[in-house]
Order: sequence, then structure tokens, then C-alpha cells
Amino acid sequence: MYRTHTCGELRLSDVNKTVTLSGWVQRVRNLGGMTFIDLRDRYGITQLVVNTETQSDLSAAVRELGREYVIQVEGTVAERSSKNSKISTGEIEIVITKLNVLNKSEVPPFTIEDESDGGDELRMKYRYLDLRRNPVRRNLELRHKMGIEIRNYLNHLNFLEIETPVLIKSTPEGARDFVVPSRVHPGQFYALPQSPQVFKQLLMVAGYDRYFQIVKCFRDEDLRADRQPEFTQIDCEMAFVNQEDIMTTFEGLAKHLFKSLRGLEMKNEFPRMCYADAMAKYGSDKPDIRFGMAFEDLTTLVQGKGFKVFDDAEYVGGICATGCAGYTRKELDKLTEFVKRPQVGAQGLIYVKYNEDGSLKSSVDKFFDEGQLKGWVEVLDAKPGDLLLVLAGPRKKTLTALGELRLEMGNRLGLRNKEVFAPLWVVDFPLLEWDEEANRFFAMHHPFTSPKLEDVPMLETDPAQVRADAYDLVINGVEVGGGSIRIHNDMLQNKMFKILGFTEQEAQAQFGFLMNAFKYGAPPHGGVAFGFDRLVSLFAGIDSIRDVIAFPKNNAARDVMIDSPSPIHDAQLDELYIDLKPVSKK
Ligand code: AMO
Repeated sequence: MYRTHTCGELRLSDVNKTVTLSGWVQRVRNLGGMTFIDLRDRYGITQLVVNTETQSDLSAAVRELGREYVIQVEGTVAERSSKNSKISTGEIEIVITKLNVLNKSEVPPFTIEDESDGGDELRMKYRYLDLRRNPVRRNLELRHKMGIEIRNYLNHLNFLEIETPVLIKSTPEGARDFVVPSRVHPGQFYALPQSPQVFKQLLMVAGYDRYFQIVKCFRDEDLRADRQPEFTQIDCEMAFVNQEDIMTTFEGLAKHLFKSLRGLEMKNEFPRMCYADAMAKYGSDKPDIRFGMAFEDLTTLVQGKGFKVFDDAEYVGGICATGCAGYTRKELDKLTEFVKRPQVGAQGLIYVKYNEDGSLKSSVDKFFDEGQLKGWVEVLDAKPGDLLLVLAGPRKKTLTALGELRLEMGNRLGLRNKEVFAPLWVVDFPLLEWDEEANRFFAMHHPFTSPKLEDVPMLETDPAQVRADAYDLVINGVEVGGGSIRIHNDMLQNKMFKILGFTEQEAQAQFGFLMNAFKYGAPPHGGVAFGFDRLVSLFAGIDSIRDVIAFPKNNAARDVMIDSPSPIHDAQLDELYIDLKPVSKK
């Protein structure tokens, strides 16, 4: 038997028991005549002690130990004289009588402590060592618990977990596909699913009216802190439901997770905001509503006073930063630099300081007198001590930039507390999105999303105005999930494909199987998918989803531990009938 107990298990009540433990050596300390070893496993740390004066054999063996050696010890549980309240086993130690080195270890490339000295790349290369650290382990435990809670909750509601294939067909919509060449069918490719979207719809046609799956999805897109090329969705679909039914069901799931994993009782219904308001008031389809600072449109108020920047702008909008009137020149310059960053994209920043004494000082004093600035103060409901920040330019771009500025001010003012959770449903998304480059409409969600029935006539006359039965769940500014009611009528689906620029043949080639299925009694249906990694990281209070994935890819979509992607042998390429083109150096 390698062990009778784990390293997180023994307590005062176990004193005098003879026990066997196995684990990794975290640290060895020599203090006078005693040597202490911290023995670690997944469950905790237990202190081992050897009396170097009376236990000479053991002392020699202990001197050979290095960090991360795997050992097995036998000994007696004793009460500690100096207790450590920080760890669960801190009241006891094991006076060891036997020590068996199960395996040696090289000196690890970074310290395996809560605060490691290893940089990101090094920790990813040796991820199996990084995974030994408490913070990472806790994240994976949370992920496991969340998975269990989700399965239990949905199981009780009669949802069936059904697996769908991973080698599927490439589709032109959405992100880029990862593709897999077929050996048996030279020149043909599978695609890895960006989501199981069409399969879950086919399951509805098949009569499995409540489906879910915790499932890997693959998207070849540019990476960010909240995006991985392979990530996990809690993918769900229901038949005989409308938008309200779906939102109620999954709001229930979200509340259950908050309660069971964070001890938070969320009694009130999650607020809802339509897409148009989210964009106009927060410059984002995923507003962080932990704080206010909503935008006000100042366009008509400020134009026609001879200030060209405003007069030429399609949109002028501002926010009020509470208590920031005291910002120095340097701080304002920093904010200006911030809004001019390419990722934010504004041309410049205009400010008005509403000083504590009631006076106003702005960067546009040449063009606007105090009376006029007072008008801005009123619209933005500013109080003495506040700072107004104003951006101008093309509407969409400026709203987005103002949204970034708002988040930055939220960070500076400490308004984005990770212990506070502010869920929000964003609803009434536009069905279609015009793409200037491609000169055509794209589906904002995906091509199977149903238009609002009352908007269907506008599909012919003014497609851009058509709203979808689509909804996103946003928590603290993170899009944690999204879904829609689907089109279940083949005529409407055909019309949609036409608007999206598919010829009948193209639609048939890409989605013929779905349209065929719809001819055999498709029930009304809809669904939603949550980003599992995003939910876990949000609950864990961390920014990057990488920290909640056991073996994530880095920002260059590379697994530096297994060194993937990597070239394959010519023989493999030959078998697949693939010739590589030379890579042109950009
Ligand atoms: P959508 O594309 O909105 O919808 O994806 C659903 C949720 O998945 C998460 N997500 C990601 N997480 C990590 N890395 C990524 N690259 C990534 N991309 C998306 C987000 C997102 O809200 N089939 C539809 C759902 C439906 O209509 O039922 C779909 O995939 O949290």
C-alpha cells in the first residue's frame, strides 16, 4: 500500500496513529537537531519530521532529498508544538520511521509555490509542473465542480447529454475552420466543429427535445485573453420553446451555479437590455453593468459652435467620471494616449473639469463658454468634482472607443470588483450585419437564427433593420453565452440563405442535409451555448481562460509543451496527396 492517507487529511484526532503517506517533497528545512519536510500531494501539505540526532539512518536519507522527489514515508502522527493555522494539517506532524524514495526529480525550472518565479512561457512548457501549484489546481477543481453541477441541473430538467461528431463538414460562415485531410478520400477534408450547431438542430428534428453537451469547439481565429482555438461550450437546445422559455431555463442554470459554487443567492430576474441601447449607452454588445457611467449623446448640443472636430463628426458622446476633476495634466495626457491607441481608435480626447468650487475648465475653452459647458454638465448629470470625457468621430467607431474609455475609467476608479457579479441579457440583436469589404450581409449570430416574426416583412425591404430572436448572457462585461430561436421552416431558411448571398446550389451543397431534414417535421426550437472556460474563469475571478484549462495554447495558438503545430513526415503528406507550397515570407 503506497499510502493510508492523503497529505491533506490528518488532524489532531489522528494523533498516535501509524500512517503511510506518499507525495512530493515541497521543501526540506534543517533546524538544529530536527529536519522538517513538507510533503505535498493534490490534497494538501503534511509536515514530516526527523530527529537528526537520534535517527541517523533516516537523516542520511533525508539529506539526499531534493525538491519534487517522490517519496513514501511511514511514521506516527504527533501534535505539533508550533501550529500552522494556514494549512488544514497544521496542528499535526508525522514523526517518520521509514523513508522510501519512489523517484528522484531534477531541480524544477521554477518554484512550485502559489507565487511562482516562473514566467508564462516557461510554466506552459512545463505545464505538468505548473499544474502542481495550488492556484491552478483550484481552478481545475472549480471547473470539475461546475461541470458536475451543470450535468446534475440539466439532468433533473430531462436534458440528455448526446455526443456529436468531431470530424464534420467545412462551412463558410463564422470563423475560419480547422480542417483535417482525408486519406481515404484524397483531396477532401473534414472540418472540426466551430460548434455542434447543426447537429443539435437535427437532434430536435429527431425528437430529443432537450439536449445538452459539454463539448470541445474549434475556431481558427485571432486569440485574446478570453479566446482559445479549442475551447469548451455547454451547448444546449430545446424544442417546443420560445425565447422566454430558453432564457428562463438557463437563467435558472446560471443562478444555480452562483448559488452552489459561490454561495450567491440571486433572487431577482437578470436585467435585460436591447442591443441598440447597449451600443448607444455602453458602446458594446456586452456591457459591464457593475457600474454606470453610461454615455450621453452630445452631438446636437455641441455642433455649430465653430469647433471643427465636433462639427465634422457624425457622433459626439461623453461620459462622466465621478470625482476625477482633480486629474493632472499628466493623467489627462495618459488618457489621451489611451484613446489614441489603435485598439481604441479615437483621434483625441476632450475633457471638462467640473471643479469642486463649481468652476469649469475644459480643453475646448476657446470654443465653448461656461454657459455652454454647463449644458454638457446637465446632460451628463455631473456633480462638482467630476470630470467629463468626450469623444467625437464616426458613430460606430466613436461609440466603441468611448466604451473602451469607460472600462478604463471603471478600472481606474475600482468599479470592476471581481467579487461582484452583474449578469445581463442582451436581446434584440440585428439579424444581419453588412460587411463593407465583402459587400454583402452576414448573419450576426448564424444563418439558422430566426428573425422576429413581426420583422419578417422587412427582410425584403430593409434587411438591416430586421431584429433576431437572439440573446446573449453577459456577466461583468464578458459574453458568457449566446443563442437564438432557430428557423424551422425551409422556406424562411431558403430566403435567409438567399439574403446571405448563397445560390440555391451553394445552399444545397452546404446545408442540404439540414434543409432536407426540415422537410420531415421540424419542431419549433432554439438553444444557447455557454463558454464553459469563460464561466469558470469568471467564477474563479481571473482574466484569462488559459488559467482554467489544463493544457491551453499560448497566444500564438501553440502548445509549447508538446510543440504543436509541427511539420509532419513527407510520407504522411504523400498518403494524403498533399503538396506543400513554399511559405512566402511577409
Ligand atoms: P457563439 O459563437 O456565441 O454561439 O458561442 C457561444 C459561447 O462560446 C464562447 N466562445 C468562446 N470561448 C472561448 N474561446 C473562443 N474562441 C470562443 N468562441 C466562443 C462564448 C460564446 O458566448 N452555436 C452557437 C450557440 C447557439 O446559437 O446555440 C454558438 O456557438 O462564451
